[in-house]
Amino acid sequence: VIDIRKLYGNTGAFTYDPGFTSTASCESKITFIDGDQGVLLHRGYPIDQLAEQSNFMELSYLLLNGELPSKAELEKFSGTITRHTMVHEQLAQFYRGFRRDAHPMAVMCGVVGALSAFYHDSTDIADPHQRLVASHRLIAKIPTIAAMAYKYSVGQPFVYPKNNLSYTGNFLNMTFSVPAEEYEIDPVVEAAMDKIFILHADHEQNASTSTVRLAGSSGANPFACIAAGIACLWGPAHGGANEAALNMLREIGHIDRIPEYIARAKNKDDPFRLMGFGHRVYKNYDPRAKVLGKAATEVLAKLGKNDPILDVARKLEEIALTDPYFVEKKLYPNVDFYSGVILSAIGFPTTMFTVLFALARTVGWVAQWNEMIADPEQKIGRPRQLYTGHTQRDYVPLTQR
Ligand code: ACO
Repeated sequence: VIDIRKLYGNTGAFTYDPGFTSTASCESKITFIDGDQGVLLHRGYPIDQLAEQSNFMELSYLLLNGELPSKAELEKFSGTITRHTMVHEQLAQFYRGFRRDAHPMAVMCGVVGALSAFYHDSTDIADPHQRLVASHRLIAKIPTIAAMAYKYSVGQPFVYPKNNLSYTGNFLNMTFSVPAEEYEIDPVVEAAMDKIFILHADHEQNASTSTVRLAGSSGANPFACIAAGIACLWGPAHGGANEAALNMLREIGHIDRIPEYIARAKNKDDPFRLMGFGHRVYKNYDPRAKVLGKAATEVLAKLGKNDPILDVARKLEEIALTDPYFVEKKLYPNVDFYSGVILSAIGFPTTMFTVLFALARTVGWVAQWNEMIADPEQKIGRPRQLYTGHTQRDYVPLTQR
């Protein structure tokens, strides 16, 4: 009998690392995280400084190009993105194939994947110029596609991009304006939305980014790779947690019910987890959650909204930060904990939360994809396995089984 383990594996040393908790899959110069200290840097710049002082367009340039742009560079970049915001009319027809009650993330997976059928020139990924064009198309079109997913779900007509608006203002207009009424973009809402986009733009080799890199490592079409990233982001353990976190806060509903949910989270026999808490890398406060916690209070106050779930969120955070179970396991609020409170105040339904995450993360995905393709060390991603199945055995004919 031949031992398959000897045949297929163990010819050299390799690590068994489920969930890749301690395996680096690539070198990268884009984003740095120190999970113990709660530090997040993009191209060296701290996330809190970027969130307070920069804007999503500038951050997109930084992630893609490695340096902050000059005024002229930023204008040129914004102009390029603005010129690509339209989608092909035939893509608009594509939406009609979906049920109206389809989850918008399902629609996003399909529509973004379908872009690969519209841009055949983007298949020459060895050409840096073509890669840049594909990147610009993705960053520019994703707000249009996301807004259309929303409009389709509520049965309203699609709103075309308006190129005299900012990136974020244009997205809000395409989402919330209706032809019969004048829609004015509230600067408070625009600033909060832009901040949310900044805070979700990149986060090094998380599950969806690794998915984009893995898909791209075979030389696949970039639009298809981003669709793969969107599919991965959808899961409740990843980007889907913002939707789950808000649903959980609404279900708790009142601070008096928090102890019941804390007890459930600690109970090993109950699969319930406190959504918006815990992170694979951060064993300290997620710096993005700090910015968003502050922004949630400001936005609700400025919009004059008094949502009781903000009180539930604050109290839950207070209790969890002192509870021995959470302290010992280093479970702190993550980026998804407060983002839903803000998005809900702005007027987004929970099903759109992960779509907004995907919109912002697209720039991180394309930056990471570009870096990977340009890396001369890049190989097709091909994890190994630890085979635990049968050793070789002889086929038994059906009549003898
Ligand atoms: N509530 C209660 N207990 C938790 C939670 C939580 N939210 N998160 C982790 N734990 C516990 C686990 O039960 C486990 O306990 P054990 O050691 O007694 O078995 C321990 O903490 C470690 O948890 P793991 O699942 O092993 O940690 P991992 O790094 O694999 O998971 C994850 C990280 C998926 C984010 C997890 O904390 C979780 O499910 N959180 C809730 C979902 C969420 O908010 N996800 C968003 C992440 S951020 C993002 O993707 C943008």
